[in-house]
Amino acid sequence: MKRVRKAVFPVAGLGTRFLPATKSIPKEMLTVVDRPVIQYVVDEARKAGIEHFIFVTGRNKGVIEDHFDLQFELNETLAQRGKTTQLDFLKTLQPEPGQTSFTRQQVPLGLGHAVWCARDLVGEEPFALLLPDMIMQTDKSCLSDMVELYEETGGNIIAVQECDPAEAHKYGIVGRGKDVHDGFEITGMVEKPKPGTAPSNLYINGRYILQPQIFGILAKQERGTGNEIQLTDAMLKLEKTQRFYGYHYRGSTFDCGSPEGFVEANIAFALARPEMRASVLGMLERLIADLDPRKAMQAAE
Ligand code: UTP
Repeated sequence: MKRVRKAVFPVAGLGTRFLPATKSIPKEMLTVVDRPVIQYVVDEARKAGIEHFIFVTGRNKGVIEDHFDLQFELNETLAQRGKTTQLDFLKTLQPEPGQTSFTRQQVPLGLGHAVWCARDLVGEEPFALLLPDMIMQTDKSCLSDMVELYEETGGNIIAVQECDPAEAHKYGIVGRGKDVHDGFEITGMVEKPKPGTAPSNLYINGRYILQPQIFGILAKQERGTGNEIQLTDAMLKLEKTQRFYGYHYRGSTFDCGSPEGFVEANIAFALARPEMRASVLGMLERLIADLDPRKAMQAAE
């Protein structure tokens, strides 16, 4: 069985929920506390043993490439000023030469199309797919657990989490079959099921390990919901000939593709930083106290 060495990061979406911020800044470069969202996702992949990072970018996304490049002048200045802590930290985040590749999705035709754009860079081997909108908060990365499961089962792996059943119609939902190692057999997938028809409350949370045969299906460029080329449609076709397993992730996931999820991520990651925790808690307490209904009424008048 081939090892999972490569990861694909589709970062070519328009980010319309974040306009006007995303007019010129990719949403993946918005910062959660002090580092861009994409950095968290790349770090998760690195922890899982990924050796090659493939970014599917689009217009206005060049800054992502710069972020993962060596900033020679910055490093020199930090060294001259004796800022060794910051310099050493930056070095730990720097991919090795040759570990990154960038390709372009010229028109954002959907997630499935973005994944297809990475076909030649991935080649004939299994690969991880991480949606950079979703960032996760656990010591061991979600993808690490998925790679461990994959080494037992092979096939394709999709990470899932529980949602409120009343919200299931907003997500891609999988059906749960029998347990296999630390995962379970997936018995079906449905993208945004009609209310009351979802096969479970397990939603796809943005982490996948896929076999390269997915590219042959995506190559047909069939349009689905929203007239976009949908990854779920291609996975449903692949499911007819290959096994799919679910990995039930139990850590916290933040949807940084929506402003509310992004704000929550900032608060959660700041609270998780020992040096910030007390001051951020104090700020939150003050802000909540300010929500006193009388004050809110005065402000509205
Ligand atoms: P989203 O649908 O959440 O991203 O796609 P979006 O289109 O950028 O956001 P909104 O809805 O307009 O606010 C999930 C992931 O797939 C990527 C996005 O960049 C995001 O990381 N994507 C989506 C592509 O790379 N290309 C596409 O054509 C669509």
